[in-house]
Amino acid sequence: MGGLLKGIRCKPSAWCGLRGCGGLGRFIVTSAWPYVNTIPHLGNLIGSILSADIYARYLRLRGHEVLFVSGSDEHGTPIELEARKKGIPPRMLTDQVHEYDVKMWREWGISFDNYSRTESPVHREFVRWFMKKLYERGYIFEQEEKLPYCPNDKMFLPDRFVTGKCPYCGFEGARGDQCDECGRLLHPTELIDPKCSICGARPIYMVTKHWFIDLSKVQREVLEWLESNRELPDNVRNYSLQWARQGLKPRSVTRDVEWGIPAPFPGAEGKTIYVWFDALLGYVSATKEILQEKTGDPEAWRKWWFDPETKTIYFIGKDNIPFHAIILPAMFIASGDPYVLPWRISATEYLMYEGQQFSKSRRIGIWIDEALEILPADYWRWALARMRPEARDTNFTWKEFYRIVNSELNDDIGNYVHRVLSLIKRRLDGVVPNPGRLPEEEERLIEETGKAAWRAAEALDEVKIKQATEHVLEVARLGNRYLNERQPWALLKENPEEAKASLYAAAAVAKKLAHLLAPFMPRTAETLWSMLGLEGSVHQAVWDEHLDKPVPPGTRLGEVKPLFTKLPPDFLDRVDEIIEEARRRALEKRPPALRD
Ligand code: MF3
Ligand code: ZN
Repeated sequence: MGGLLKGIRCKPSAWCGLRGCGGLGRFIVTSAWPYVNTIPHLGNLIGSILSADIYARYLRLRGHEVLFVSGSDEHGTPIELEARKKGIPPRMLTDQVHEYDVKMWREWGISFDNYSRTESPVHREFVRWFMKKLYERGYIFEQEEKLPYCPNDKMFLPDRFVTGKCPYCGFEGARGDQCDECGRLLHPTELIDPKCSICGARPIYMVTKHWFIDLSKVQREVLEWLESNRELPDNVRNYSLQWARQGLKPRSVTRDVEWGIPAPFPGAEGKTIYVWFDALLGYVSATKEILQEKTGDPEAWRKWWFDPETKTIYFIGKDNIPFHAIILPAMFIASGDPYVLPWRISATEYLMYEGQQFSKSRRIGIWIDEALEILPADYWRWALARMRPEARDTNFTWKEFYRIVNSELNDDIGNYVHRVLSLIKRRLDGVVPNPGRLPEEEERLIEETGKAAWRAAEALDEVKIKQATEHVLEVARLGNRYLNERQPWALLKENPEEAKASLYAAAAVAKKLAHLLAPFMPRTAETLWSMLGLEGSVHQAVWDEHLDKPVPPGTRLGEVKPLFTKLPPDFLDRVDEIIEEARRRALEKRPPALRD
């Protein structure tokens, strides 16, 4: 199984676990760049960054070379509107929120190789260079158009500065760039009953000049790619194909706002690049930035992005599909450089909160800093992976969270580990025994748990993160059932030789759990690793070489303590109070720009 050893390429006949990989691969794992107008909630987290982290950690554990990049999306009207509301300059808002987010990723155990920001000089320069290149290659043209203008605020109202009714689905709160309800991209003039987002006035229409990317020129290539990429999930393919088949129309790439990256086109002084054409290029610029820092070579990124063997995977929420499956490939193609087009795009549906949409204004939901005031990150990482909205919108409920923590983490996983390790501790002086020849029961245990463990790996290969957690639980449940039947504590008296074999095998299963937990609960996995007395880090132990190996006989266990703590029995009755308290504590730690 998994015919790959670290540093060795699979033979074409062997299967390293990744379809079409053909050996050790090079992966760029990305997650959507969060807007820094606010702090992410749990739905945002599992929708992109946490899923990407689990996958990136998994790839590293299979010995692949991985760059995991993301960053703060700082420009655009969401930020400008929020800064106006607070009466501070946009950069003050983004500085504070970026710094806070970086701290959050550390606390959540997110293993970014680079978490950059769109205000980074490397990024700004890259975007100007890239867009200028599109211009020089004839993909950008200028044209006058009529756009909403607010006579009170004396400004054009791009994107979120104007809201109204969606012409497609009738949703009342649609924004000038996109309808949140049906996901369609919009042009501001399409909105029915438009209103200025700042003052509520009805805008007038005025003529201004903008620069457009002619997407029709790449329509054929984009369609070909969409049709031929078998790795795209249905929700991404269907939506994008439908859009691309209708014909790709020119889209404006400039805006009449100050906050952003100055457009590099002749005559475009005073205009900035539309936030999406800026942020999407962050995937490349963040790679450039980190490789430049590591190698000193500002061109090192090309080896990654222009190598047809590099696989790129994007973790996004479903509202981001058109940008990643149409606009980004279109930009890459138009550049004339041989960028690898997206290998996979994993687009999650929405996480609901107790049956409702997360809403900051209505205070519905739980935000990533608040969550950590209730339980440490690993509990949440596991629970969110269990609730990952893969095929349809999924409901977060406290009842389910309570069940996951108390029954899955404590009773299934934690209890198994504790039973085994405390027996070895108390009855065998804390030393993993030498088994002699393995009896049939133990052979079977090792084999069955081994199969379940590799099924988890296969699910992860397919980015079926939720399904992978099922197989992890299966390993723990097989272990518990084995203990109940085999009763090694009784064997210790009746048949010490078999008892040794039993505890040796049971320890091997605990070690499998440490490997398997590593992508999901990195700290817990490391704790378990040292409880098992193993050297180095579980995160360095490549599965293909180590997952099937036991804890070597003679290993002295580390300090054994419970891996998890249960939520108290009255948790659900008191949950409102608990949330209030968590909110209060999180609020105190937030920077001023996030205290509302
Ligand atoms: N900030 C965007 C959002 O929250 C996502 C940007 S993804 C990127 O919807 F690729 F453009 F960075
Ligand atoms: Zn106005």
